[in-house]
Amino acid sequence: MTNPGIGGVGGGNFARGRRLRSTPALRRLTAQTRLAPADFVLPVFVKQGIEAPVPIGSMPGVVQHTLDSLRKAAHEAADAGIGGIMLFGIPSEKDPVGSQADAADGIVNVALQQLRADLGDELVLLADLCLCEYTDHGHCGVVTPAGVVDNDPTLDRYAAVAIAQAQAGAHVIAPSGMMDGQVAAIRKALDGAAFTETPILAYAAKYASGFYGPFREAAEGAPQFGDRSTYQMDPPNADEALREVAQDLAEGADAVMVKPALPYLDIVARVADAVQVPVSAYQVSGEYAMVEAAAANGWIDRDRAILETLTAIRRAGAGTVLTYWAVEAARLLARS
Ligand code: PBG
Repeated sequence: MTNPGIGGVGGGNFARGRRLRSTPALRRLTAQTRLAPADFVLPVFVKQGIEAPVPIGSMPGVVQHTLDSLRKAAHEAADAGIGGIMLFGIPSEKDPVGSQADAADGIVNVALQQLRADLGDELVLLADLCLCEYTDHGHCGVVTPAGVVDNDPTLDRYAAVAIAQAQAGAHVIAPSGMMDGQVAAIRKALDGAAFTETPILAYAAKYASGFYGPFREAAEGAPQFGDRSTYQMDPPNADEALREVAQDLAEGADAVMVKPALPYLDIVARVADAVQVPVSAYQVSGEYAMVEAAAANGWIDRDRAILETLTAIRRAGAGTVLTYWAVEAARLLARS
């Protein structure tokens, strides 16, 4: 008997979309994109001089950690089977050059030492390498008296920070400052300090985005004057992202990142097509806040939206997703 089709069209010879959608088991069997806890990296904030974790108002469920609460969170992340955690430090004292970023007793380096001692190689420890959380002016590099971020002196600072983070126990160095030549400078510094085996994950295509707003509350790194549009990428541009990625790979990046994720899925897809190294995408604070705010209003099914966004980012071609929901998404997957 021939299939009657829908509205008279489509006989038995046609491949019919609905045939493979009819049961959960069939949908599971034919799903082209899968999520696993190992695909996720959890960004975490650790703050110096606090007695208890401090909730971040614009990111419900996310906190600035104490050293102790971070250790607990890292154990939970490892137990949940997630791939890694990305550390951001918030020092008590900021200065024009961000000295606390590479001080051996700086908060992020102490945290790295502790986590590496606790967890060894169980969880990949990624260190965000930037100066904006550590400078009193909040820019990602050192600035000239005229207030312009000065590229090459900043590279010297990044080189020192990379060595300090690797010494403290970071498995991966992730430069996010968007200075020209940062990957080459960091590779040279790491090699010169015998960290030849420490990989660099470059935030290669990082856009000047309005979606970083909540992060600036979390990391206390908002620029005190101007903005980041002279070093981060301009949202209308796509080809430029491929150029940035190619440049970072030529300088020695081992893996590349696109950031933000959801508003830039076209970039994720193009980068994933263009390169043969691992591609990450960073689902940033504003993407998290949007879903949380809508869910808090009862306007959206939170758990479903979380997994849908993560699936979309993986479907676009990212192997790894940095997400504040990493541990929670791992739990949601275990239930589904
Ligand atoms: C710092 C940095 C930022 C983010 C990650 N690293 C902020 C910025 O560039 O202003 C944003 C992450 C987020 O919004 O979740 N260079």
